[in-house]
Amino acid sequence: MDKFLIQGGQKLEGEVRISGAKNAALPLLAATILADSPIRISNMPNLRDVNTLVKLIAGLGVTIEYVGDMVTADTSTLNNQFAPYDLVKTMRASILVLGPLVARYGEAKVSLPGGCAIGSRPVDQHLKALEALGAHIEVENGYVHAKVDGRLKGGEVIFDMVTVGGTENILMAATLADGVTTIRNAAREPEITDLANMLIKMGAKIEGLDTDTLVVTGVESLHGCDYAVVADRIETGSYLAAAAITGGRVRTTHTDPALLECVLDKFEEMGAEVTRGEDWIELDMQGKRPKAVSFRTLPHPDFPTDMQAQLMAVNAIGRGFATISETIFENRFMHVPELSRMGANIQVEGNDAVVTGVEKLSAAPVMATDLRASFSLVLAALAAEGETLIDRIYHIDRGYEHIEAKLQGIGAKIKRVSG
Ligand code: EPZ
Repeated sequence: MDKFLIQGGQKLEGEVRISGAKNAALPLLAATILADSPIRISNMPNLRDVNTLVKLIAGLGVTIEYVGDMVTADTSTLNNQFAPYDLVKTMRASILVLGPLVARYGEAKVSLPGGCAIGSRPVDQHLKALEALGAHIEVENGYVHAKVDGRLKGGEVIFDMVTVGGTENILMAATLADGVTTIRNAAREPEITDLANMLIKMGAKIEGLDTDTLVVTGVESLHGCDYAVVADRIETGSYLAAAAITGGRVRTTHTDPALLECVLDKFEEMGAEVTRGEDWIELDMQGKRPKAVSFRTLPHPDFPTDMQAQLMAVNAIGRGFATISETIFENRFMHVPELSRMGANIQVEGNDAVVTGVEKLSAAPVMATDLRASFSLVLAALAAEGETLIDRIYHIDRGYEHIEAKLQGIGAKIKRVSG
């Protein structure tokens, strides 16, 4: 099992090229199932999760190729609508093939994704939404079996809570439904807008982008197109956090400040100097120790839960103390015990964590538990005195493309050791 060996204490300086967003790439890949002619998606990040979904879509019989950063898919050879447990269990976003398969082929059998380290992560809202459009859903033996005679029917969908995946699943399904679908309490993450933009290029009729109410007028079919994945706002924030925690200066390129304004505001509250360009962002901590800042995770456009662990790591060496509230997932503080092993002072009460900043963290052997927690341990190791060994870093390979090269490019002393 691979590990990272990190020698901390350097101010990180330099430029990082941001990749396409994992959380856009996955729904975009699922949407290829809707196209009745070949579709090409570029700026595709080479990540474990992306490769898993490409494999699952190939398992449907789709002719799909992933060369360089380009995925091309041709659904004319699709010959089944079955997504097996052994693939879905490794990448829960596979549930996103359910909506497209039912909408286009009238039937799908997709394994329930099951939970993960950060929570139970049910998909009840996805299923309720599909039933509102006329799908007949049965859940048995760990599989969702969805069917509809003829086409899905446009209708009204109201989500009980804001769900990114639920919004994406029903948005894709509604594009081929007969009639108009209104999706209320829709998630507004930029990755949903990216998905909607590609669906519109494929011939879909969608209004209300970036709002909590999407109105979709169904069409008979969707065609292929050329599309590029939006920049990864969480990867962007993660590398800017590396500058904040080491007192350095990092410029992230091929990204967009508008995707993560709430995070940039927090960095400025910490005392960082943030400069925003057309497609780049620079954070200069000017050698200073950041001020600890409080925040609460909420659906977009508020503070993203996927940046919570990273900013907790920065707070851990911050001046003063801060309260962090995690309102999206029920178990997303798995990084706390590991950060504490490195000397962080963090008190957890339910979904709230009070972080009292310390001058210095100290190197220690630690273990990654989930994707974003892994990056928070990397951040802590970059700031800590001494050499830190991080185990189970397969988690981090799910969401950060070429992470060692990108960190070495800004001066980090990091290497991957196997065994
Ligand atoms: C997406 O997960 C992201 N993953 C997550 O990123 C992200 O943390 C999350 O949205 C929130 O922003 C991808 O896009 C692939 P949700 P998703 O449905 O869609 C509950 C990362 O680190 N819920 O918005 O699964 C759910 O349990 C990952 O890149 C239901 O109860 O998240 C959670 O508490 C982690 N029933 C809350 O809603 C449902 O049917 C938000 O979940 C659906 C969700």
